Amino acid sequence: MCGIVAYIGKQDAYPIIIKGLQRLEYRGYDSAGVALLNGSLNVYKKAGKVSDLAAFVKDKNLSGVVGMGHTRWATHGEPNDRNAHPHFSQSKDFAIIHNGIIENYASIKAELMKQGHTFESDTDTEVLVHLIEEIYTKVNVPLEEAVRLALGEVVGAYAIVILSKNDPNKLIAARKGSPIVVGIGKDEFFVASDATPIVEYTKNVAYLNDGEVAVISDGKLTVKTIGNEIKIPFVQELEMKLEALEKGGYEHFMLKEIYEQPRSIADSMRGRFDSRNGTLKLGGLREFETKIVNAKRIIIAACGTSWHAGMVAEYLIEDLARIPVEVEYASEFRYRNPVIYEDDVVIAISQSGETADTLAAIEMAKSKGATIFGVCNVVGSSIPRATHAGTYTHAGPEIGVASTKAFTAQVTVLTLLALQIAHKRGSISESRFRQILNELESIPQKVEKALQSNDKILAIAQEYKNARNFLYLGRGYGFPVALEGALKLKEISYIHAEGYPAAEMKHGPIALIDAEMPVVVIATKHGSYEKVVSNIQEVRARKGKIIAIVTEGDTQVKELADYVIEIPETDEILVPLVSVVPLQLLAYHIAVLRGCNVDQPRNLAKSVTVE
Ligand code: G6P
Repeated sequence: MCGIVAYIGKQDAYPIIIKGLQRLEYRGYDSAGVALLNGSLNVYKKAGKVSDLAAFVKDKNLSGVVGMGHTRWATHGEPNDRNAHPHFSQSKDFAIIHNGIIENYASIKAELMKQGHTFESDTDTEVLVHLIEEIYTKVNVPLEEAVRLALGEVVGAYAIVILSKNDPNKLIAARKGSPIVVGIGKDEFFVASDATPIVEYTKNVAYLNDGEVAVISDGKLTVKTIGNEIKIPFVQELEMKLEALEKGGYEHFMLKEIYEQPRSIADSMRGRFDSRNGTLKLGGLREFETKIVNAKRIIIAACGTSWHAGMVAEYLIEDLARIPVEVEYASEFRYRNPVIYEDDVVIAISQSGETADTLAAIEMAKSKGATIFGVCNVVGSSIPRATHAGTYTHAGPEIGVASTKAFTAQVTVLTLLALQIAHKRGSISESRFRQILNELESIPQKVEKALQSNDKILAIAQEYKNARNFLYLGRGYGFPVALEGALKLKEISYIHAEGYPAAEMKHGPIALIDAEMPVVVIATKHGSYEKVVSNIQEVRARKGKIIAIVTEGDTQVKELADYVIEIPETDEILVPLVSVVPLQLLAYHIAVLRGCNVDQPRNLAKSVTVE
């Protein structure tokens, strides 16, 4: 959700912090602020984007080699200047930035008010910094002790950074449930929600674990648990490349990421199979491979686009490996008292690896004895750390809030997983196994080809950019794609869109169809092609406008549709990987034509670390 960045060293902190906030803005963008320590502790904050903050602080005193910044996605209190972070303590000697939620803030606040504290914001965060100051002055302990004791009283999730005027060369960070990574440079340290603000300065990082407090002072990093146990930080090298965090000539990150898919899909397969020898190995299954191969049932838990990838995986695993699969919204699964057996395998899918509901679903299923397998994109994030085994998707950093390349990388990896399980179980013939592996190798070129329809898609977007509703239809493997296409359009263009199984349309959405309604249909030449053609006829009979995604060379649908977008022929089970691409482009162009902020759509955040 919110983004955190902090610096302590010998350079001016402000330029590093503001640049870091720009990199983290995808996590939240309703307000932003900075705090700088330079004899005094100065806080500047503003509702709006990081650029609004930068304009606001232009004439201010921005000196200081210690500082921190925050970009917010509001949970408690509306997004205004007052509620923006950093927040001061009562005396204004301490300041805090926070990502997460303090659940018991109301009772702590009531207690502090009795002690004479007054609050300037409606946030839970401000309560925490007041509590730290209260302990610091009343118990009379060093700052790190006050932080540790205060965190012992707090229920909830947090990643925090604290600065104090009394300790001008000290920076304290702590994590529970929200990520914190510490970058270790030469005589300087960086703290951030993820590595993107850090990679430019150092490749050496240490991820804090839940319940750990980092104290950086006198050029040293020390880590303790909230329970006062000393920990040796595990320093690792970042693989991330700086170019991956820049737009590289594209107008938006989303467009860049759509166009990166031939490469990102190839990266997600690289080194994992050899189609000539018919071998496939997802190394991350480790000793848990037998568990998953012998599972009686697989449960997939995810949110948003990752849930759609999970649905493709359900079709793949049932189809190829013949294991029953249930796909669950993590937020529902965690609270609805589901039946979970010890021999169940739960696959958690998450681009960010930080989604709070998915993490909670993992913990719940783990506590019931299930084996948890993660499919994540962000290396070192919380979900891969919480699972028994897993695999990374290797799509590279995804900055656009609407997920594109992460989806196709997830589907690629899940296809490999389904194939590996099926192969080990003997539920797939050797020839079919090799046939799919062969076809997988050609997917990057086929996605490249699908991208060539861009101009045509732009023309279609021109025609329908003012539509009030869109319907997306698909059957079989086309159905999750229809859901994902509709989600993309909703997220970035704010046009209402629904994805539906094509045949199910008759049981409701057909009532919405008139001459104003564009209907996007996945109508590739596969199993249910003729049935989809009938569904197209049903739409046409009601004067709906048809935009069909068809297999190259199709003539039948061409006759019926207002527009067709051709994609190269591929195996039915791999259709999602290619057919989703025109839908991503359609949503992108419509949103741009409507003047929407494609990379930072309103109200959304890339990483949802609150439930
Ligand atoms: C947010 C993002 C979506 C994403 C979903 C799940 O809603 O805006 O793009 O699909 O979270 O995120 P995850 O990181 O778990 O895949």
